[in-house]
Amino acid sequence: MAAVTGDIKDLSLADAGCARIDWALQEMPVVRGIMRRFAERRPLQGLRISACLHITAETANLARTLVAGGAELALCASNPLSTQDDVAAALVSHYGVPTFAIKGESTEVYYQHINAALDHRPRITLDDGADLVSELHKTRTQLLGNMIGGTEETTTGVMRLRAMARDRALKFPIVAVNDAMTKHLFDNRYGTGQSTLDGVIRATNILLAGKTFAVAGYGWCGRGIALRARGHGADVIVTEVEPLRALEAAMDGYRVMPLLEAAAQSDFIITATGDKHVVDSRHYAVMKDGCVLANSGHFNVEINIPALEAMAVAKHRPRPYVEEYELPDGRRIRLLAEGRLVNLAAAEGHPSAVMDMSFANQALAVEYLWTQGRDLAPEVHPVPAEIDGEVARLKLAAMGLAIDDLTTEQQNYLGSWREGT
Ligand SMILES: NC(=O)c1ccc[n+]([C@@H]2O[C@H](COP(=O)([O-])OP(=O)(O)OC[C@H]3O[C@@H](n4cnc5c(N)ncnc54)[C@H](O)[C@@H]3O)[C@@H](O)[C@H]2O)c1
Repeated sequence: MAAVTGDIKDLSLADAGCARIDWALQEMPVVRGIMRRFAERRPLQGLRISACLHITAETANLARTLVAGGAELALCASNPLSTQDDVAAALVSHYGVPTFAIKGESTEVYYQHINAALDHRPRITLDDGADLVSELHKTRTQLLGNMIGGTEETTTGVMRLRAMARDRALKFPIVAVNDAMTKHLFDNRYGTGQSTLDGVIRATNILLAGKTFAVAGYGWCGRGIALRARGHGADVIVTEVEPLRALEAAMDGYRVMPLLEAAAQSDFIITATGDKHVVDSRHYAVMKDGCVLANSGHFNVEINIPALEAMAVAKHRPRPYVEEYELPDGRRIRLLAEGRLVNLAAAEGHPSAVMDMSFANQALAVEYLWTQGRDLAPEVHPVPAEIDGEVARLKLAAMGLAIDDLTTEQQNYLGSWREGT
């Protein structure tokens, strides 16, 4: 067998990576079930896939599932700071998956790695943030003719792909895995909630109880972050631009105010908006000394870092993942993980149990595209409701939870309009 190629940090980390991957699999019963079925029936035989995902233990288990189904897979990172180097080594040496990902890679190498994954000549892509699909459309157009479709893992990616479809620039169909209920209700909320707090705590080890903690954006991620920060005993402020979301935050019991007001009183400010320059110079001007800034949204543009660099008179790194900027008046602002996804850069990303559902959707969406997706229009499509429902059913069963069935009388009642007061 030819040696599997890739560009990773250090092959000698592979055994540690395997241990991490096996540990994660124990919390991924739905993916395990799909992996077993795929290994028996090989539904993806003959399929070439290029996947741009965070290279974590959970992603490795998705990769194993796709390979068990008969697919040939090449992997690259969807963020320069989120790669687990031991997992990347294990993927290459133990699981035979060409992997191009090194934690801390430059933007240039990041795009070289995306192109290396595209050299695999995919028929289906898996993306997290739409960098792979956008590169394919911008610089690798000769590959478009081969494409059956792709899947997209995150909110920001789905927004970019919808924008491409609106401009008629999208040339193959995308299944928006992010929009499956069994994905964003759990992964974005409970996964980002727990792992963002984990990243902030690992990076700073600062007590949250009694502190003021602002969350910008009360979407699925923001809700989870606010919930978990409150659980730590913090006084949580939510900032929003959508009235409905702001109202929901207020009725969930959080203080709601503009970020400028929140910035003056917060010990922590965490962004999860998918938006740009949410935290900017006017906020730095009023922040408390020692304020900790972190981002859990997809790209590192939510906090305006160039503006912070321009305002600062000095900068140093007191701990890994912490950059301390000193302002002319002596106040210090602490930026975590270079403004990149703090949960993946400073911690280990989402716990495996939520990725179990996200990646079950991914595996089943790939099977759907390969077996039934050839006539789909080049637009963004939902995950079929049967797949979403099946993932919920399998997860409940794996958790040992049973629910009630509707009686015939109830089914008739719920389906009729005749019975009233
Ligand atoms: N860290 C992770 O592992 C992880 C996981 C899932 C999603 N994400 C990313 O997190 C981001 C948010 O995802 P989501 O699913 O919560 O999206 P969402 O659309 O449900 O929520 C985003 C919220 O931010 C608000 N918002 C936009 N601009 C704002 C501003 N300037 N100030 C305050 N609020 C603003 C919007 O009104 C919306 O309510 C996306 O970039 C997504 O890709 C990250």
